[in-house]
Amino acid sequence: MALKNEVKIILQKIIIVSLILVFNTILIYSKDYPNKLIVNVDIEKGKISRYIYGHFAEHLGRCIYDGLWVGESSNVPNIGGVRKDIIEALKKIKAPVIRWPGGCFADTYHWMDGIGPRELRPPMINIFWGEVIEDNHFGTHEFLNFCEEVGCDAYISGNVGSGTVKELADWVEYVNFDGNSPMANLRRKNGREKPWNVKFWGIGNENWGCGGNMTAEYYVDLLKRFATYVRDYGVGITRIACGPNSSNYHWMETIMRDGRARKSIQAVSLHYYTVFESWSNKGSATDFTEYHWFGILERTLRMDDIIKRHSAIMDRYDPDRRIGLMVDEWGTWYNVEPGTNPSFLYQQNTIRDAIVAGINLDIFNNHCERVKMANIAQLVNVLQALFLTKGDKMILTPTYHVFDMYKVHQDATLLLNELSCEEYTYDGKSIPSLNSSASKDDNGLIHITLCNLDPKNKKELLIELRGVKSVKEVSGKVLTAKEMNSHNTFDNPDNVKPTVFRDFKVKNNTVVVDVPSKSVIVLEIKR
Ligand code: AHR
Repeated sequence: MALKNEVKIILQKIIIVSLILVFNTILIYSKDYPNKLIVNVDIEKGKISRYIYGHFAEHLGRCIYDGLWVGESSNVPNIGGVRKDIIEALKKIKAPVIRWPGGCFADTYHWMDGIGPRELRPPMINIFWGEVIEDNHFGTHEFLNFCEEVGCDAYISGNVGSGTVKELADWVEYVNFDGNSPMANLRRKNGREKPWNVKFWGIGNENWGCGGNMTAEYYVDLLKRFATYVRDYGVGITRIACGPNSSNYHWMETIMRDGRARKSIQAVSLHYYTVFESWSNKGSATDFTEYHWFGILERTLRMDDIIKRHSAIMDRYDPDRRIGLMVDEWGTWYNVEPGTNPSFLYQQNTIRDAIVAGINLDIFNNHCERVKMANIAQLVNVLQALFLTKGDKMILTPTYHVFDMYKVHQDATLLLNELSCEEYTYDGKSIPSLNSSASKDDNGLIHITLCNLDPKNKKELLIELRGVKSVKEVSGKVLTAKEMNSHNTFDNPDNVKPTVFRDFKVKNNTVVVDVPSKSVIVLEIKR
């Protein structure tokens, strides 16, 4: 009798579970989802260059000195003078490339002052960044050895604004020539036998501004002259022309329409910073309202249109897309933290910055046919930094965690992903509430990244994987926070960090995801 009852109970349970499953299925298929992402697994849109996940370190404020460079004799654990904690954290996110030495600093930098015994290196004034004295202790060898330690490529920005053609040509020879030449032998004398084979060379930085205040027409002539003497030496180098700021389409047009200029380069750069409300008052990184939250995200989304319009110009002259667009400076720019040197550009980093990073990286992924590199500004203690340091302490910012979550897209294949979603409306203005990109890696794993821009409302999102019969397994991570301005501090370094994400249901080839407010998500899908 007891056995009969047990069987009855088990049967009842099975029926209830089955009913729930059937109900869920009916719900998924019959419900009209206002938020829907269609990922076309069979429609490949090209390779997402790993260099989109690149970095930038300038001699500015506490980025190099104090941030990266502490010197070999420091109590702070270091490898060859560079902080060990940062080297390890960069390896973890598979940092692919670091741009150096600027920024505006690049067009004031004379590389020969930064080689040889450190105590003999001549100092200089860092004219753009607080007129502090630069002792040149972090130079070519220190930077390139650091990149080798991280296992990433180096991107050197050459000096066009105040340097000479010979100076840049000599630098390339010093760094890349393997034979018996004056510069290669000088490198050997300074302790480095083999060349570093640096692939990426910038022909000036912001030459429309701090790099010499040139017109586009004048710069194009200089570009051709400098690029001619940046020799390849069998390395397969990429010469990167100084490109426009934001929506300066005339600058792009002037470079691209010149056939000789096109021939002499492999890429053009683009700078676009997220600034709200004005350059003279950029707001606080941590002390802000929803008005500022909305403003920053709305300005971030403009990156998509800026890339589209520059790409359209490039497409006219370079339909085969041989020339890459390198967004080699991007990120948020706020007022500096109270009490810090205004020229040092030190700012905190909140969940809002994490969402800015996610949106930008999704945009770059979705434009991978033209965007071949991007470098967030900057690596340590400056602007939208991945790391903040204080003495021997170092914290990972929410932005760092986004780079960690998104690394799965590096060198993967972009999948056509079409998102339709509700608007996020504030004060009568609207922007899309969600943002996404999707890729397939070499093992066939699908990765989808999502951002919810709405700081108050979670979103239910239906993801349909077209070309897939059934989804086998889904796993995920989420980065979110209690407040719009939640951030990490030296006393509370793990306040904002990714956690395992399980708020989704799977049915056949669909996944229904509950995307929390103000969040960044990465999903891994096995089929
Ligand atoms: O990243 C800070 C500065 O912003 C860079 O030096 C310059 O290129 C840009 O204007």
